[in-house]
Amino acid sequence: MIKRLIPLLLVISIVACQTAIKKERITGRITDSAMVVSAHPLASRAGSEILQKGGNAIDAAIATQLVLAVVHPSAGNVGGGGFMVVRLNDGSAYTLDYRETAPSGATTNMYLGETGEVIKGLSETGHLASGVPGTVAGLAEAHKKFGKLPWKELVQPAIDLAMDGFILTEHEAEGLNYIQEDLEKFNSILPNHLMNAWKAGDSIRHTDLGYALERIRDNGRAGFYEGKTADLIVEEMKRGNGLITHEDLQAYQAIWREPITGEYKNYKIISMPPPSSGGIALIQLLKSVEPYPIQEWGWNTAPTVHLMTEAERRVYADRAAYLGDPDFFEVPVDKITHPVYIEERMKTFDPQKATPSRDIKEGVLQPGESSQTTHLSVIDQYGNAVAVTTTLNDGYGSRVVVAGAGFILNDEMDDFSMKPGVPNMYGAIGGEANKIMPGKRMLSSMTPTIVEKDGHLLMVVGTPGGTTIITSVFQTILNVLEHNMTMQEAVTAKRFHSQWIPDTIQPEFGALLKDDSLQLIRYGHTFESRSSIGRVDAILVLANGKLEGGADPRGDDAADGF
Ligand code: GLY
Repeated sequence: MIKRLIPLLLVISIVACQTAIKKERITGRITDSAMVVSAHPLASRAGSEILQKGGNAIDAAIATQLVLAVVHPSAGNVGGGGFMVVRLNDGSAYTLDYRETAPSGATTNMYLGETGEVIKGLSETGHLASGVPGTVAGLAEAHKKFGKLPWKELVQPAIDLAMDGFILTEHEAEGLNYIQEDLEKFNSILPNHLMNAWKAGDSIRHTDLGYALERIRDNGRAGFYEGKTADLIVEEMKRGNGLITHEDLQAYQAIWREPITGEYKNYKIISMPPPSSGGIALIQLLKSVEPYPIQEWGWNTAPTVHLMTEAERRVYADRAAYLGDPDFFEVPVDKITHPVYIEERMKTFDPQKATPSRDIKEGVLQPGESSQTTHLSVIDQYGNAVAVTTTLNDGYGSRVVVAGAGFILNDEMDDFSMKPGVPNMYGAIGGEANKIMPGKRMLSSMTPTIVEKDGHLLMVVGTPGGTTIITSVFQTILNVLEHNMTMQEAVTAKRFHSQWIPDTIQPEFGALLKDDSLQLIRYGHTFESRSSIGRVDAILVLANGKLEGGADPRGDDAADGF
């Protein structure tokens, strides 16, 4: 009897053991019909409350972004710009460009010294670093076209938090402490509401910002681009030799643009066209890897990482040569996203060997034709979806706080190419397509994206991170579509980045197993590790119609909804 039991016990113990090592699926917050995921729990809450009042995804995105301007001032903003991708429940898609523009006084060589060298830091901090802000014009325009609730109701949650105060998280306290010296250096009138040795749990109020938000609540776009706030911005510029004028502010316009779309297997990608490089690059990347069995190769194995890196090299070389503001430079969108062009680009891909970046140039066209940004994803109870990525560029932008208005201005001018071949703060280089010209929008990597499967809404996704935005969105999408991850797993999974120049793979700690790293070194790759890449916030529509939020654990990010 005992003898007969031994094999059975063995089988039971093996099964028990396998059950024990079977990986637990980690899911994010699940809701029935509506969700907001953003970089701060108070912002996600505000957006969710707007949805509960009957507002739609556009309303919620507006309220969420304005609350981020108060509670997450390193990236949430009224002094910056952004992009919004909208997919309505009838399947129609729209993209809104509220990217900053170069002031009318800007010149191509404004950051070069007498001998033609780039003056370090001039495009990154201080008054000259700022482009004309686009956020308020963008949000007002989005509301005019799609808003359901009154504008005032959407601005009020941000005003309440600015005026009444809120509790700092550890991330936010650390961020503010990190910029104290710069705040002293770049502000002749010190922004007292930001100056302190902050600790998690401290309460903070932004009264000047609250009054500026009240002017926006009461007068819409005119409450920022005209009147008292405009006067305060121009005075601030005069104090620090900045360039933004009343005329620049009045002339600023947000622009509806044709979304960039592409196919990956039976999925449709809807993303941001130029002046973002994000949508084009994402579609190029997905098309480049589509013919290869990456599901079989597995997540972050040597063959998968090698393929993705080689695709990224080629795509970022194209980015440097061909992408800029389409109103100033003819961007060959159709050519560089054409499947035949992408196939041609990948012909030099060697599965066993890295191609040195110095051997990669932009593709040949056929004749004829702090890194800190923040992202939010929304799906409403009516089936509409919104992806917004918004930025001051670097964390806390130019570090210039508009005295009397309490908000920080962007340092988006650094996203222009200062000089052909000279890298910006993200190591990105550029040339003619992205040179500085008055009124021009600087090239962006922001990639707010919506994915459809078989014509139905599947995912809303995006992240901050400068040039790593594109590769983070790329990986998050593949994590779900190819590696069968839940939304939360896809967001949490360790990432790596590569971008042609510098010629390295930059993994987060733990992104690659030792054997895969060694194999990649044998292929000819080199590594430069990074502490953290991006803060992806995403929503997945599950097979049962419920929503799963993926809120990035790298920050305070949170999902909220019902
Ligand atoms: N400032 C980051 C980006 O727009 O790509």
